[in-house]
Amino acid sequence: NSSFIVGSKNFTAVAINTASKAGEWIQSKLGDFNSLHMKYSPHDLVTEVDKGAETMIRNLIQTHFPQHSILGEEGVEPGPAASTKALQEAKEAEYLWIVDPLDGTTNFVHGFPFFSVSIALAHKGEVIVGVVYDPIRDELFVAEKGKGAYVRGRRMRTSAEDKLSDSLIATGFPADRDYALPINLQGIQALTPKVRNIRVAGSAALHLAYVAAGRLSGFWEIGLNAWDVAAGSLLIAESGGTVTDTFGNPYSLEVRNVLASNGLIHQQFQQELAAAQAIGAGAL
Ligand code: IPD
Ligand code: CA
Ligand code: CA
Ligand code: CA
Repeated sequence: NSSFIVGSKNFTAVAINTASKAGEWIQSKLGDFNSLHMKYSPHDLVTEVDKGAETMIRNLIQTHFPQHSILGEEGVEPGPAASTKALQEAKEAEYLWIVDPLDGTTNFVHGFPFFSVSIALAHKGEVIVGVVYDPIRDELFVAEKGKGAYVRGRRMRTSAEDKLSDSLIATGFPADRDYALPINLQGIQALTPKVRNIRVAGSAALHLAYVAAGRLSGFWEIGLNAWDVAAGSLLIAESGGTVTDTFGNPYSLEVRNVLASNGLIHQQFQQELAAAQAIGAGAL
Protein backbone atom coordinates (compact mmCIF):
# COMPACT_ATOMS: atom_id res chain seq x y z
CA ASN A 1 0.00 0.00 0.00
CA SER A 2 1.77 3.10 -1.26
CA SER A 3 -0.14 5.43 1.06
CA PHE A 4 2.42 4.77 3.78
CA ILE A 5 5.35 5.78 1.63
CA VAL A 6 6.47 9.37 1.13
CA GLY A 7 9.07 9.70 -1.60
CA SER A 8 11.33 6.75 -0.98
CA LYS A 9 10.60 6.63 2.75
CA ASN A 10 8.48 4.08 4.49
CA PHE A 11 6.71 5.32 7.62
CA THR A 12 6.49 1.91 9.22
CA ALA A 13 10.16 1.13 8.69
CA VAL A 14 11.14 4.39 10.37
CA ALA A 15 8.76 3.72 13.28
CA ILE A 16 10.19 0.21 13.74
CA ASN A 17 13.84 1.28 13.54
CA THR A 18 13.28 4.21 15.87
CA ALA A 19 11.41 2.18 18.51
CA SER A 20 14.03 -0.59 18.34
CA LYS A 21 16.97 1.79 18.75
CA ALA A 22 15.34 3.66 21.63
CA GLY A 23 14.32 0.39 23.30
CA GLU A 24 17.81 -1.07 23.10
CA TRP A 25 19.27 2.07 24.62
CA ILE A 26 16.67 2.08 27.43
CA GLN A 27 17.48 -1.54 28.22
CA SER A 28 21.19 -0.70 28.37
CA LYS A 29 20.38 1.92 31.03
CA LEU A 30 18.39 -0.43 33.26
CA GLY A 31 19.81 -0.05 36.77
CA ASP A 32 22.15 2.64 35.46
CA PHE A 33 20.38 6.01 35.63
CA ASN A 34 21.26 9.02 37.79
CA SER A 35 18.37 11.42 38.02
CA LEU A 36 14.91 10.60 39.33
CA HIS A 37 12.30 13.36 39.55
CA MET A 38 8.61 13.62 40.31
CA LYS A 39 6.33 15.21 37.75
CA TYR A 40 2.63 15.72 38.41
CA SER A 41 2.46 13.68 41.61
CA PRO A 42 4.72 11.38 43.69
CA HIS A 43 3.31 8.57 41.50
CA ASP A 44 4.53 10.21 38.31
CA LEU A 45 8.28 9.75 37.77
CA VAL A 46 10.78 10.79 35.14
CA THR A 47 14.45 9.93 34.64
CA GLU A 48 17.09 11.15 32.23
CA VAL A 49 16.46 7.92 30.32
CA ASP A 50 12.86 9.00 29.49
CA LYS A 51 14.21 12.31 28.22
CA GLY A 52 17.18 10.81 26.40
CA ALA A 53 14.97 8.26 24.65
CA GLU A 54 12.57 10.98 23.57
CA THR A 55 15.41 13.11 22.17
CA MET A 56 16.76 10.11 20.27
CA ILE A 57 13.30 9.36 18.82
CA ARG A 58 12.66 12.99 17.85
CA ASN A 59 16.03 13.24 16.10
CA LEU A 60 15.49 10.05 14.12
CA ILE A 61 11.97 11.02 13.02
CA GLN A 62 13.03 14.56 12.12
CA THR A 63 15.92 13.27 10.03
CA HIS A 64 13.51 11.26 7.88
CA PHE A 65 10.44 13.50 7.97
CA PRO A 66 11.42 17.12 8.70
CA GLN A 67 7.93 18.38 7.74
CA HIS A 68 6.10 16.16 10.24
CA SER A 69 5.02 17.19 13.76
CA ILE A 70 5.88 15.25 16.91
CA LEU A 71 3.93 15.05 20.17
CA GLY A 72 6.09 13.38 22.81
CA GLU A 73 5.32 12.94 26.49
CA GLU A 74 8.52 14.57 27.72
CA GLY A 75 7.93 17.63 25.54
CA VAL A 76 4.69 18.43 27.39
CA GLU A 77 4.20 19.94 30.86
CA PRO A 78 2.92 17.37 33.38
CA GLY A 79 -0.78 17.06 34.19
CA PRO A 80 -4.05 16.61 32.30
CA ALA A 81 -4.69 20.30 31.43
CA ALA A 82 -1.33 20.80 29.72
CA SER A 83 -1.57 17.52 27.82
CA THR A 84 -5.07 18.33 26.55
CA LYS A 85 -3.82 21.67 25.26
CA ALA A 86 -0.72 20.15 23.67
CA LEU A 87 -2.82 17.56 21.84
CA GLN A 88 -5.30 20.16 20.61
CA GLU A 89 -2.47 22.16 19.08
CA ALA A 90 -0.57 19.17 17.72
CA LYS A 91 -3.49 17.39 16.09
CA GLU A 92 -3.86 20.16 13.49
CA ALA A 93 -0.74 18.79 11.78
CA GLU A 94 -1.24 16.69 8.67
CA TYR A 95 1.27 14.10 9.87
CA LEU A 96 1.72 13.77 13.63
CA TRP A 97 4.03 11.31 15.37
CA ILE A 98 2.79 10.46 18.87
CA VAL A 99 5.56 9.21 21.11
CA ASP A 100 5.82 7.66 24.55
CA PRO A 101 9.59 7.16 24.78
CA LEU A 102 9.34 4.95 27.87
CA ASP A 103 5.96 3.64 28.94
CA GLY A 104 6.33 2.11 32.38
CA THR A 105 8.84 4.46 33.99
CA THR A 106 8.01 3.20 37.48
CA ASN A 107 8.83 -0.35 36.37
CA PHE A 108 12.06 0.85 34.76
CA VAL A 109 13.06 2.63 37.96
CA HIS A 110 12.43 -0.49 40.08
CA GLY A 111 13.92 -2.94 37.61
CA PHE A 112 10.53 -4.63 37.08
CA PRO A 113 10.92 -5.94 33.53
CA PHE A 114 7.75 -4.66 31.87
CA PHE A 115 8.03 -1.43 29.92
CA SER A 116 7.91 -0.35 26.31
CA VAL A 117 8.46 2.29 23.65
CA SER A 118 5.27 3.41 21.90
CA ILE A 119 5.32 5.24 18.56
CA ALA A 120 2.30 6.04 16.41
CA LEU A 121 1.84 8.08 13.26
CA ALA A 122 -1.48 9.85 12.72
CA HIS A 123 -2.58 11.30 9.40
CA LYS A 124 -5.23 14.03 9.84
CA GLY A 125 -5.99 12.71 13.31
CA GLU A 126 -6.28 9.05 12.36
CA VAL A 127 -3.63 6.56 13.46
CA ILE A 128 -2.12 4.83 10.39
CA VAL A 129 1.00 3.22 11.93
CA GLY A 130 1.45 1.86 15.46
CA VAL A 131 4.56 0.28 16.97
CA VAL A 132 5.07 -0.91 20.54
CA TYR A 133 8.47 -2.37 21.40
CA ASP A 134 9.31 -4.41 24.52
CA PRO A 135 13.11 -4.44 24.71
CA ILE A 136 13.30 -7.00 27.54
CA ARG A 137 11.57 -9.72 25.50
CA ASP A 138 12.70 -8.23 22.18
CA GLU A 139 9.07 -8.22 21.06
CA LEU A 140 8.00 -5.77 18.40
CA PHE A 141 4.28 -5.22 17.88
CA VAL A 142 3.49 -3.42 14.65
CA ALA A 143 0.33 -2.44 12.79
CA GLU A 144 -0.46 -0.52 9.63
CA LYS A 145 -3.97 0.67 8.98
CA GLY A 146 -5.76 -1.82 6.73
CA LYS A 147 -2.80 -4.22 6.66
CA GLY A 148 -3.07 -6.16 9.90
CA ALA A 149 -0.97 -6.32 13.03
CA TYR A 150 2.05 -8.49 13.76
CA VAL A 151 4.24 -9.59 16.66
CA ARG A 152 7.63 -11.16 15.92
CA GLY A 153 6.50 -11.12 12.29
CA ARG A 154 3.38 -13.22 12.97
CA ARG A 155 -0.16 -12.02 12.45
CA MET A 156 -1.96 -11.19 15.71
CA ARG A 157 -5.56 -11.99 16.57
CA THR A 158 -7.46 -10.93 19.67
CA SER A 159 -8.63 -13.67 22.05
CA ALA A 160 -11.81 -15.75 21.82
CA GLU A 161 -13.37 -15.35 25.29
CA ASP A 162 -16.95 -14.19 24.97
CA LYS A 163 -17.82 -14.01 28.66
CA LEU A 164 -16.36 -11.73 31.31
CA SER A 165 -16.15 -14.73 33.62
CA ASP A 166 -13.62 -16.37 31.23
CA SER A 167 -11.64 -13.17 30.74
CA LEU A 168 -8.20 -12.03 31.87
CA ILE A 169 -8.22 -8.24 31.90
CA ALA A 170 -5.75 -5.54 32.89
CA THR A 171 -5.82 -1.99 34.12
CA GLY A 172 -3.42 0.62 35.48
CA PHE A 173 -3.19 3.05 38.35
CA PRO A 174 -3.07 6.51 36.79
CA ALA A 175 -0.65 9.32 37.57
CA ASP A 176 -3.64 11.64 38.10
CA ARG A 177 -4.73 10.58 41.56
CA ASP A 178 -7.41 13.25 42.08
CA TYR A 179 -9.85 12.53 39.30
CA ALA A 180 -8.81 9.22 37.81
CA LEU A 181 -7.80 7.01 40.74
CA PRO A 182 -11.15 6.83 42.61
CA ILE A 183 -12.90 5.89 39.38
CA ASN A 184 -10.36 3.20 38.57
CA LEU A 185 -10.59 1.72 42.07
CA GLN A 186 -14.34 1.54 41.70
CA GLY A 187 -13.84 -0.29 38.41
CA ILE A 188 -11.52 -2.81 40.06
CA GLN A 189 -14.03 -3.42 42.83
CA ALA A 190 -16.85 -3.98 40.34
CA LEU A 191 -14.91 -6.13 37.87
CA THR A 192 -12.68 -8.33 40.03
CA PRO A 193 -15.53 -10.66 41.10
CA LYS A 194 -16.84 -10.90 37.52
CA VAL A 195 -13.70 -11.75 35.55
CA ARG A 196 -11.25 -14.66 35.73
CA ASN A 197 -8.56 -12.30 37.00
CA ILE A 198 -7.04 -8.84 36.74
CA ARG A 199 -3.44 -7.83 36.03
CA VAL A 200 -1.88 -4.42 36.72
CA ALA A 201 1.61 -4.71 35.24
CA GLY A 202 2.44 -1.02 34.70
CA SER A 203 2.69 -0.24 30.99
CA ALA A 204 -0.54 0.81 29.30
CA ALA A 205 0.99 0.52 25.83
CA LEU A 206 2.21 -3.02 26.48
CA HIS A 207 -1.12 -4.04 27.99
CA LEU A 208 -2.83 -2.83 24.81
CA ALA A 209 -0.33 -4.79 22.71
CA TYR A 210 -1.17 -7.88 24.81
CA VAL A 211 -4.88 -7.40 24.08
CA ALA A 212 -3.99 -7.31 20.37
CA ALA A 213 -1.92 -10.48 20.75
CA GLY A 214 -4.76 -12.32 22.52
CA ARG A 215 -2.78 -12.57 25.78
CA LEU A 216 -5.34 -10.39 27.57
CA SER A 217 -9.09 -10.31 26.87
CA GLY A 218 -9.35 -6.61 27.67
CA PHE A 219 -7.85 -3.52 29.28
CA TRP A 220 -9.18 -0.29 30.68
CA GLU A 221 -7.68 2.74 32.36
CA ILE A 222 -8.95 6.17 33.39
CA GLY A 223 -6.87 9.26 32.69
CA LEU A 224 -4.41 8.10 30.02
CA ASN A 225 -2.83 10.32 27.38
CA ALA A 226 -2.70 10.06 23.59
CA TRP A 227 0.90 8.76 23.70
CA ASP A 228 -0.07 5.84 25.96
CA VAL A 229 -2.82 4.63 23.63
CA ALA A 230 -2.36 5.73 20.00
CA ALA A 231 -0.09 2.88 18.84
CA GLY A 232 -1.92 0.23 20.88
CA SER A 233 -5.29 1.30 19.54
CA LEU A 234 -4.24 0.44 15.99
CA LEU A 235 -2.64 -2.85 17.09
CA ILE A 236 -6.00 -3.88 18.55
CA ALA A 237 -8.16 -2.61 15.69
CA GLU A 238 -5.97 -4.47 13.18
CA SER A 239 -6.12 -7.66 15.29
CA GLY A 240 -9.92 -7.76 15.27
CA GLY A 241 -10.57 -6.12 18.66
CA THR A 242 -12.40 -2.98 19.75
CA VAL A 243 -11.16 0.26 21.36
CA THR A 244 -13.59 2.87 22.71
CA ASP A 245 -13.83 5.21 25.65
CA THR A 246 -15.37 3.81 28.84
CA PHE A 247 -18.82 4.94 27.67
CA GLY A 248 -18.48 3.04 24.39
CA ASN A 249 -17.76 6.03 22.12
CA PRO A 250 -15.31 5.31 19.28
CA TYR A 251 -11.58 5.77 19.89
CA SER A 252 -9.99 9.06 18.90
CA LEU A 253 -6.74 10.73 19.96
CA GLU A 254 -8.67 12.71 22.60
CA VAL A 255 -9.88 9.61 24.47
CA ARG A 256 -8.41 9.45 27.99
CA ASN A 257 -10.65 6.86 29.59
CA VAL A 258 -9.84 3.84 27.50
CA LEU A 259 -11.69 0.56 27.14
CA ALA A 260 -10.12 -2.05 24.88
CA SER A 261 -11.09 -5.66 24.31
CA ASN A 262 -11.33 -8.60 21.94
CA GLY A 263 -14.71 -7.13 20.91
CA LEU A 264 -16.66 -10.15 22.16
CA ILE A 265 -16.76 -9.00 25.80
CA HIS A 266 -16.85 -5.31 24.97
CA GLN A 267 -20.48 -4.54 25.74
CA GLN A 268 -20.53 -6.45 29.04
CA PHE A 269 -17.20 -4.93 30.05
CA GLN A 270 -18.38 -1.44 29.13
CA GLN A 271 -21.63 -1.72 31.07
CA GLU A 272 -19.85 -2.85 34.24
CA LEU A 273 -17.38 0.00 33.96
CA ALA A 274 -19.93 2.70 33.18
CA ALA A 275 -21.81 1.79 36.35
CA ALA A 276 -18.59 1.79 38.38
CA GLN A 277 -17.47 5.05 36.81
CA ALA A 278 -20.68 6.79 37.85
CA ILE A 279 -20.15 5.62 41.45
CA GLY A 280 -16.43 6.53 41.41
CA ALA A 281 -17.03 10.01 40.00
CA GLY A 282 -19.81 10.61 42.52
CA ALA A 283 -17.52 9.61 45.39
CA LEU A 284 -15.21 12.57 44.80
C1 IPD B 1 2.17 5.23 32.72
C2 IPD B 1 2.04 3.76 32.49
C3 IPD B 1 1.19 3.16 33.58
C4 IPD B 1 -0.16 3.80 33.64
C5 IPD B 1 -0.03 5.29 33.81
C6 IPD B 1 0.84 5.88 32.72
P1 IPD B 1 4.50 6.33 31.92
O1 IPD B 1 2.97 5.81 31.69
O2 IPD B 1 1.44 3.47 31.25
O3 IPD B 1 0.99 1.78 33.34
O4 IPD B 1 -0.91 3.25 34.70
O5 IPD B 1 -1.32 5.87 33.75
O6 IPD B 1 0.99 7.26 32.94
O7 IPD B 1 4.40 7.59 32.71
O8 IPD B 1 5.25 5.25 32.59
O9 IPD B 1 4.93 6.60 30.52
CA1 CA C 1 5.45 9.48 32.48
CA1 CA D 1 2.94 6.33 29.33
CA1 CA E 1 6.46 7.67 29.39
